[in-house]
Amino acid sequence: MAKIGIFFGSTTEMTAIAGESIKNEFENYDHEIDLFDVGMVGLSPISNYKNIIIGCPTWNVGDLQDDWDMLYNDFKKIDFTNIVGAFFGAGDQMGYSYNYLDAVGILARAFTAGGGELIGTWPIDGYEFEESLAVEKNKFLGLALDYENQDSESEIRIKKWVHQINNEFK
Ligand SMILES: Cc1cc2nc3c(=O)[nH]c(=O)nc-3n(C[C@H](O)[C@H](O)[C@H](O)COP(=O)(O)O)c2cc1C
Repeated sequence: MAKIGIFFGSTTEMTAIAGESIKNEFENYDHEIDLFDVGMVGLSPISNYKNIIIGCPTWNVGDLQDDWDMLYNDFKKIDFTNIVGAFFGAGDQMGYSYNYLDAVGILARAFTAGGGELIGTWPIDGYEFEESLAVEKNKFLGLALDYENQDSESEIRIKKWVHQINNEFK
């Protein structure tokens, strides 16, 4: 059993809903999960976890969601050595085809630059977009959700992703 902190930011609630689902799904695997809205708690609780999951939708054409945007400079300064981290995000692959899920790329790269061990990369098959900062070596750096265009896929993707990463936490 691992203790995992999920930290999300969300403006129109979709990433909040995804965070709840991820939490519920992990509870099937007997982990201890805490869920935080970074807009309410900031970053300080992160230091209580060796295992973190970060959720951030992309806003304003390639930007972080507002709460994450305000915290980004501090996020970049965190020493993530010995921390295992997974990322998820919501975006609109049709409406913002050149910036789909960029926020996941921005935060996941800051995490690995800070020494963190990234888990939970996700295949790009089944998505249609032109460019994304979240893609590296033909994979997303975290779980890619799209409530605008593929709403019905979201719960299935969450289940698969949680199953995929569930054993990788410490
Ligand atoms: C003004 C605006 C800009 C957006 N920019 C992007 C973008 O650059 N890339 C992307 O993938 N999605 C973009 N989106 C889609 C949102 O990420 C999507 O609606 C997401 O579900 C919102 O998550 P939230 O409800 O947790 O805030 C944008 C949406 C709006 C309204």
